[in-house]
Amino acid sequence: MGQTIQPVRGMNDVLPAEIGAWQHLEATARELLDAYGYEELRVPVVERTELFKRAIGELTDVVEKEMYTFTDQGGDSLTLRPEATAGIVRAVITNGMLRGQRWKLWCSGPMFRHERPQKGRYRQFHQIDVEAIGFAGPDVDAELIALTARLWRRLGIERVRLEINSLGTPESRRAYRERLVAYFRAHESQLDADSRRRLEANPLRILDSKNPQMQELIAGAPLLTEHLDPESREHFDALCAALRSIGVEYRVNPRLVRGLDYYTRTVFEWITDALGAQDAVCSGGRYDGLIAQLGGEPTPAVGFAMGVERVVELMVQAGRVPPPRQTDVYFIVSGARASEQSLRLVESLRDALPGRRIELNLGGGNFKTQFRRADRSGARVALILGDDELARGVVALKPLRREGGQTDCPMDELAARVEAELSGRVD
Ligand code: HAM
Repeated sequence: MGQTIQPVRGMNDVLPAEIGAWQHLEATARELLDAYGYEELRVPVVERTELFKRAIGELTDVVEKEMYTFTDQGGDSLTLRPEATAGIVRAVITNGMLRGQRWKLWCSGPMFRHERPQKGRYRQFHQIDVEAIGFAGPDVDAELIALTARLWRRLGIERVRLEINSLGTPESRRAYRERLVAYFRAHESQLDADSRRRLEANPLRILDSKNPQMQELIAGAPLLTEHLDPESREHFDALCAALRSIGVEYRVNPRLVRGLDYYTRTVFEWITDALGAQDAVCSGGRYDGLIAQLGGEPTPAVGFAMGVERVVELMVQAGRVPPPRQTDVYFIVSGARASEQSLRLVESLRDALPGRRIELNLGGGNFKTQFRRADRSGARVALILGDDELARGVVALKPLRREGGQTDCPMDELAARVEAELSGRVD
């Protein structure tokens, strides 16, 4: 026997026992996005490294430390996508989709970040990502948040809170940046190595530092919200008013800066206290400059992504995972002639009852074994075909989850009898 090969650290299998929650989340999100007028698109998992450097920012943790970057056989530097926004924006530009048009798009799939794995934080994780492109807001900002709030309600998730902030325009941020640099420079001896390096190039990132020794210093730093330009202030106030009008509770967190560089104005995060150190369940914001920065015509845009693993964990904790699908009918076969006919018979039953889960006993076995398999499958009905039944033109039907003996059923009445049994129309 060969040696077992272990999976890659931080990359998980989603097993059948867990898949119900994933599918329920995916189906609910898909239905909701469809109802709000969003269209799905699918973009590659791999893009040119340059795309993420330019979109996310050279001095972010994601680009500096967490990207899965490799050189392919043709010598190109490629990267497994750490997030979806950059790829979607790239797709909208390279497919000529802009030209004054507006898009409400979503996509889902695996993302890759070389972070230190722990509960709720993985190296391959999944996002449902939503982007509204060509909308200046703040109406769309509020509607996107309303959509997420509705999703939590539909999923029965209660342990989430909304935090919002505004990062202003690049101009107002520049002015704020200077104040921030001055502040941190005055306390340079207290900065850690990462922050010192970021002081000139990206001082806002320092506010995002997770280093406990830095928190006091960060708490004393000037606030961006106090230095917003008038238009951004108006945009933010309108967003807050819209959220109040639909009864979505929020907290303004002036320290919310997000870990990616492309944001302008609105940023938001749904956070939870149910996942230990990983508190962000769904995060996003506006990125009015990104499309132009990536070579497209200047177009405002806003979006968010939710971490599927984290939402699934909240669903599990809330006890809101739908029960696993069970088999409806288990088909038991015995005898050479009956075995020959069984597949044809089951296939015609599947034609007649397309929504039902119908399992044919595979790989033989005596009656006892087959009945045991039928029971384990959760089936409510066993159908039994032996050479004797075959000779008489019948199939025996036995209810497995209610009192009641085995009865013969003519072949041409089988589908109707089974359906009546399954939908409880038999007494
Ligand atoms: P992000 O905050 O980097 O934003 O990630 C969005 C969500 O993905 C997080 O709130 C979290 O739930 C989940 N997530 C991130 N990293 C991990 C990880 N290592 N393991 C498990 N879950 C994780 C973005 O990615 C932006 N592209 C969102 C966006 C879209 N902004 C505008 N449009």
